[in-house]
Amino acid sequence: MPEPVNPVTPVTFPPAFLWGAATSAYQIEGAVREDGRTPSIWDTFSHTPGKTAGGETGDIAVDHYHRYRDDVALMAELGLGAYRFSISWSRVQPTGRGPAIQRGLDFYRRLVDELLAKGIKPAVTLYHWDLPQELEDAGGWPERDTALRFAEYAGIVGEALGDRVEQWITLNEPWCSAFLGYGSGVHAPGRTDPVATLRAAHHLNLAHGLGASALRAAMPARNHVAVSLNSAAVRAVSDDPADVAAARKIDDLANGVFHGPMLHGAYPETLFSATKSVTDWSYVLEGDLTLINQPLDALGLNYYTPALVGAADPESSAGARADGHGQSDHSPWPAADDVEFHQTPGERTEMGWTIDPTGLHELIMRYTREAPGLPLYITENGAAYDDKPDPDGRVHDPERIAYLHGHLRAVRRAIAEGADVRGYYLWSLLDNFEWSYGYGKRFGAVYVDYATLARTPKSSAYWYGQAARTGALPP
Ligand code: NOJ
Repeated sequence: MPEPVNPVTPVTFPPAFLWGAATSAYQIEGAVREDGRTPSIWDTFSHTPGKTAGGETGDIAVDHYHRYRDDVALMAELGLGAYRFSISWSRVQPTGRGPAIQRGLDFYRRLVDELLAKGIKPAVTLYHWDLPQELEDAGGWPERDTALRFAEYAGIVGEALGDRVEQWITLNEPWCSAFLGYGSGVHAPGRTDPVATLRAAHHLNLAHGLGASALRAAMPARNHVAVSLNSAAVRAVSDDPADVAAARKIDDLANGVFHGPMLHGAYPETLFSATKSVTDWSYVLEGDLTLINQPLDALGLNYYTPALVGAADPESSAGARADGHGQSDHSPWPAADDVEFHQTPGERTEMGWTIDPTGLHELIMRYTREAPGLPLYITENGAAYDDKPDPDGRVHDPERIAYLHGHLRAVRRAIAEGADVRGYYLWSLLDNFEWSYGYGKRFGAVYVDYATLARTPKSSAYWYGQAARTGALPP
């Protein structure tokens, strides 16, 4: 149930609460052939006909590589306190292995220095889905070596930026890398193989653990190491045991597969039994779980919408496919033909995702129970709407303000109930390349005119900036 609005009592946040915005390299940088950068799997995928809406690519994106100074200035004008961005691995290590190229690292040094000069806290994500193509050619995430390469890369970036960046995130949404990249194929590299999906999930877990250790070895001890998970608020469509079992399976495949090893040092037994028709998990080697289960300083949660799950109707062929993760003839979910996704009731955003802040509250409280004592950050939350400038050039997006308001109130409620949430990063600072949906889905608080690349803050950007400056939600 959404909380009743009390117009008199302002919703205030703890004074140290971080108010940020987030982006990722391939979605905003452009400049894909500059300064020694080589193709990542997203360059290859987006240039493959039929893979993205209208054949759109990140070649130019919003040209942040050349406009980062203006973008940082805009964040400062709005009053943001933090900025989460990702590093393009193939700018730093073009072949995914070996020594770094300085020009690549220098871009991120300049960006960080610019942020620090404006009093904005940088938070670096090492991997936001753009694997160097050479590593995919060598087998990609289903292969163990990719995790070892990631550790090397993490050490390089940690050494280069660890003196000026305190907050680090190893991986962004590894579920998407594994299940959409190798399962349904709607994300790069576009493979559709259930065994490869689960192998990828394990090696992403290993990459996280090895990467976290490499970061610690390369950086001052005060720095924070975290991971950003798109944990799912999975709900059974009814109390019927078959529906409850279906929800349990999806919970294991969405959450347990990462929470288990990262937070508890073990995969859930129920995950092994549910997937035994697909894989024997023999690629989980002795010692891996200890390597994965590294102590963390914080946990990042990305949240957009809950999932409503039930047992599949044997008459229906949609099965686990209709889950809001894009169109494919292949399900992202291995061994889940007996599961069906239902549309959650309520209003939806332009992505077709139901707006339900209670899912965010539910997940924060779950993390609070599962990882007691670990500070939490909402590392992504936001909504796509079909924003357009008015004739006067202004962009009004009251739906996004309502979305942010509702979700920030859910965060505040969780804090009041004892959750240690330290900050919130709005997705996204700018309209940008929304993966297979191309530029059609606008998540930005700042509007981008793709013809001129001009930036115009939407009304939500001013609303959010006021929240950031005052520590309270404007009405
Ligand atoms: C999660 C991803 O991390 C981000 O890249 C994406 O644009 C948003 N969700 C919206 O789909």
